[in-house]
Amino acid sequence: MSTYVTAVLPTDQPPLMHQAVDEAVRLLREGEVVALPTETVYGLAANALDASAVAKIFEAKERPTFDPLIVHLASKDQIDLVADIPPEIAPAVKKMIERFWPGPLTILLPKKPVVPDLVTAGLPTVAVRVSSNPIFRRVITGLGKPLAAPSANRFGSISPTSASAVFAELNERIHLIVDAGACMFGLESTIIKIEPATPKMLITVVRPGPITPEDLKAYGKVLHAKRTVVDEATEAPGQLASHYAPKTPLRLLERPQDFIPEEGKRYALMSYRGEEKDGYLNLCDWEEVMMLSPGNGKLPEAAVRFFHILRRLDELGVDEIIAEPLHEHGMGIAMMDKLRRASVRRYSA
Ligand code: TXA
Ligand code: MG
Repeated sequence: MSTYVTAVLPTDQPPLMHQAVDEAVRLLREGEVVALPTETVYGLAANALDASAVAKIFEAKERPTFDPLIVHLASKDQIDLVADIPPEIAPAVKKMIERFWPGPLTILLPKKPVVPDLVTAGLPTVAVRVSSNPIFRRVITGLGKPLAAPSANRFGSISPTSASAVFAELNERIHLIVDAGACMFGLESTIIKIEPATPKMLITVVRPGPITPEDLKAYGKVLHAKRTVVDEATEAPGQLASHYAPKTPLRLLERPQDFIPEEGKRYALMSYRGEEKDGYLNLCDWEEVMMLSPGNGKLPEAAVRFFHILRRLDELGVDEIIAEPLHEHGMGIAMMDKLRRASVRRYSA
């Protein structure tokens, strides 16, 4: 793998922001990859219509090429550039993109030939979304091409919600990280598939995220893709059972009474709101307790902190991370999905 000096360019003053955007556009034009902020997580972007640029994403992430990428558009009206929308679902797609774009909703649609097969891993569909992050939008508008962008982490690892997290994952593997601070949602976009049906469209949530089944139900009957903690065959090929895993073993402890600490082992707790009454704080002499939503248990707050806290817990070097369950509604659905996947151990060391 090639090694680079990875620059991290700030964007917190107007001239710096313009410089960072210009540099990102310049590199993208040259067929390079750059890490950019989105409203969900940081993405590792390349010109989606240039297969050799896209190949560099797979190389930097060590991502298997069976795992397709999301194509980001500069605006809603570019959807026809990359996707062929079947007429039966066109009215529903139109309504949903009017409501949710720009924003954290990704839609699977039949792809146009212009999208390289590498982007879609040979699938007949392409995943598309429009990001609402202003810096991302400046870059994509400046480039004038759709951007393929997976989360900017190494394959299977924790998604980055800050420039420093991207640096920890991809230092020396890419030229540039554009630093725009913490991501607004902190969890990856919701991915859906839409199928024609009467009286209502069928909307399958392939990956849960910030746009919840509650938000989607006005547009059709919402189905959940099968949970695939044991079975690795899934609708989104990247949604493998053991995804989002920290290096430290993680256990989602659904009931506190099921915990029997082993002598000499060091444990850390990922607590939802840090309340004793939830029954987890006094289960053992925790090496460290970190809270997702200190005190109040607000799911969007927990979501913003989720990957950051997971990453920090992973850095402690304890023997096992124990995670409290979260309420399984709203953004809690996506976090529980990720905790279940993270708690499936990989069989290799
Ligand atoms: O919020 C997000 O979606 C972020 C930001 C950067 O936009 N991106 C992201 O990309 O999470 P990635 O590659 O980490 O996750 C995309 C998921 C993968 O699980 C992939 O398998 C699935 O989307 N996917 C992409 N194209 C697909 C397709 N045509 N059919 C089914 N699943 C697809
Ligand atoms: Mg990812």
